[in-house]
Amino acid sequence: MELKPYVHIRKEIDIVGARQLGRELAKELGFSKVDQARIATAISELTRNIYLYAKTGKIYFEEIDQIDRKGLRVVAIDDGPGIKDISQVMQDGFSTSGGLGAGLPGVKRLMDQFEVNSMNEGTKIEAIKWVR
Ligand SMILES: Nc1ncnc2c1ncn2[C@@H]1O[C@H](COP(=O)(O)OP(=O)(O)OP(=O)(O)O)[C@@H](O)[C@H]1O
Ligand SMILES: [Mg+2]
Repeated sequence: MELKPYVHIRKEIDIVGARQLGRELAKELGFSKVDQARIATAISELTRNIYLYAKTGKIYFEEIDQIDRKGLRVVAIDDGPGIKDISQVMQDGFSTSGGLGAGLPGVKRLMDQFEVNSMNEGTKIEAIKWVR
């Protein structure tokens, strides 16, 4: 099995580290500058949410190398309070922290595939971007 690069999110500065690692991997995979920026922004939003709502968590990266396409999978996992109503948090402008509520809908727009899974405890968000 392939080793998956990951970053533990514990302090605010870890958001920067996750963003940088994700951008480096995206560059190696051959993403355009614009897509590298999109991926880095998505990673920032996911890790900021972990830091704000779950306090700690982890973000890991998986290179997808298929015969017909390459991509990057970003997975953000935490053991925080979880998200009860996923359709609600996916609406532009919904925030429980006085934020813009633009983070998760933004990540969905920036990436090609997006999935939220949440139980009573914890949240797992997976997003994929394909190289074009
Ligand atoms: N990892 C998480 N664990 C628990 N709740 C979360 C998590 N991520 C997001 N949420 C909930 O989803 C809501 C919407 O998140 P989103 O990132 O879209 O907006 P925001 O963080 O409130 O504001 P913004 O990201 O625009 O500054 C949050 O206000 C929070 O209630
Ligand atoms: Mg947010």
